[in-house]
Amino acid sequence: MNKRSLSSQEIIDLEVKYGAENYHALPVVLTKGEGVFLWDVEGKRYYDFLSAYSAVNQGHCHPKIVGALIEQAQTLELTSRAFHNDVLWDFQKQITTLFGFEKVLPMNSGAEGVETAIKICRKWGYEVKGIAENKAQIVVCNENFHGRTTSIISFSSDKGSRENFGPHTPGFISIEYNNLRALEELLKSNSNIAGFLVEPIQGEAGVNVPSKGYLSMAKALCNQYDVLFIADEIQTGIARTGKMLAVDHENVRPDILILGKALSGGVYPVSAVLADGDIMSIIKPGQHGSTYGGNPIAAAVSMAALNVVEDEKLAENAERLGRIFRKELTEFAAENDLVVLVRGKGLLNAIVINDTEDSTTAWNICLKLRDNGLLAKPTHGNIIRFAPPLVITELQLLECIAIIKRTIEVFWKRSSSK
Ligand SMILES: Cc1ncc(COP(=O)(O)O)c(C=O)c1O
Repeated sequence: MNKRSLSSQEIIDLEVKYGAENYHALPVVLTKGEGVFLWDVEGKRYYDFLSAYSAVNQGHCHPKIVGALIEQAQTLELTSRAFHNDVLWDFQKQITTLFGFEKVLPMNSGAEGVETAIKICRKWGYEVKGIAENKAQIVVCNENFHGRTTSIISFSSDKGSRENFGPHTPGFISIEYNNLRALEELLKSNSNIAGFLVEPIQGEAGVNVPSKGYLSMAKALCNQYDVLFIADEIQTGIARTGKMLAVDHENVRPDILILGKALSGGVYPVSAVLADGDIMSIIKPGQHGSTYGGNPIAAAVSMAALNVVEDEKLAENAERLGRIFRKELTEFAAENDLVVLVRGKGLLNAIVINDTEDSTTAWNICLKLRDNGLLAKPTHGNIIRFAPPLVITELQLLECIAIIKRTIEVFWKRSSSK
C-alpha cells in the first residue's frame, strides 16, 4: 500500500488501531519538515510552534545536521563502547569545551540522562560526602518533569504519571519550586541530601520561570551544604531561552548538567551528562552505560547540531525575538480577558488561558491555530506553550503573532458575547 495515498484521518485511525495510545496528539499528520515549517499529508503548510518539545531548535531537517548523519551513517554507525571509535573523542572535546566541564557521559534519551545524573549523584553522596549506605536523598521540585522511567516518575507530582506504576523508587524529597526557604530548611536539617535536581525553567509545567536570583541562590545553598546542583537543561538548554543554557542568565555553573533534545537538532536521539573529573570519576568501567550511547552517528550529528547553534547565532535570535513575542502578546493580553498571563524567556514562552485546567478552551484554540496554519499544544489544560525553531526570522515571527492574535480574538469575542 502506498502510504502517501492515505488521508490524515485514515492514518490517525490506523495509528490508533495498531499503537498504544500513550499520547493525545493534535489531529494533524505530518509528512515533511523544513526550517520552521511542517507539511501535512494533504499538503497544508504550518509554522511549527512546538519544535518537538524544543528538540528542533536548529529547524527541521537542517542540511548540515542531516549531512553529518548521512556521511557518518555511510562510514561507521555503531561499535558499542566495547571498542573505541574515531568520532566520540571529537564530540567529547567539543561539548566539554563549549559548556566548560572536564568530562561528558553520553546517553540517548533525556530520561536516560537524568537517570545517569541520579546515579552519579547518589554514588558521589556515598563515596565523597560520606552518606551512610542507602540513605542518600535527592531534592526535586513540585511540578517537575524529568522523563518517564520508573525512578523518575517516582518523584513526579503528576498523578497520571505516578498512579499504579508503583512501588516507587525511594530517596527523593519534593519541595515547592522557586522557594529558597524550603530548600534551605531542608538542606540545613538533613545531611543525607546528595543533590538538588532542578529545571531552570519548568517547561512541561507550563513554562514556569522562577524569580530572578532563585537559581544563583539555590546554587549558593548547595555549595554551603555540600550538595550537588544538578541542572536539567534538556528542554531549556542549547539556546532555547536566549542563552546557551538557561542557568547562564544567572551565571550559575551546575555541578552536573544534563542535556538532550536539541543536542542533535531533532535528527537523532542524543543526551549527555557533563561534570568535572572529581564528580564524573565516581563512575568506573562497567558501572553505567548504553549500547548506543556515544555512538559515531550520535557524536557526528551532535557536533554538527552544536556548530549550527553557534554559527547561526541562535541564542541571540531567541533572545531578541523572544522579547518581541512577549511584548506583543502582553499588550494583546492587556485588552483580552481570555489571556491572563504571558511568560517565558527567549523563545520558550507560554500563555495562560482564562479557564480551568480541565476545560477544553486551550485545546480548541490549538485546533483553530492548526486550521490557521500554526501548530502548538496545550500543557496542563489551560496553558499553551509557544516554542518555534530558533531559526525563525522576525518577519515570520510577526506573521505568527498575527495568527495567534487573530485566532484567540475569535474565541474571546465568542466567550464575551455569551
Ligand atoms: C526538562 C526535561 N527533562 C527530561 C525530559 C525527558 O526527555 P526524553 O523525553 O528525551 O526522555 C524532558 C522531556 O520533555 C524534559 O523537558
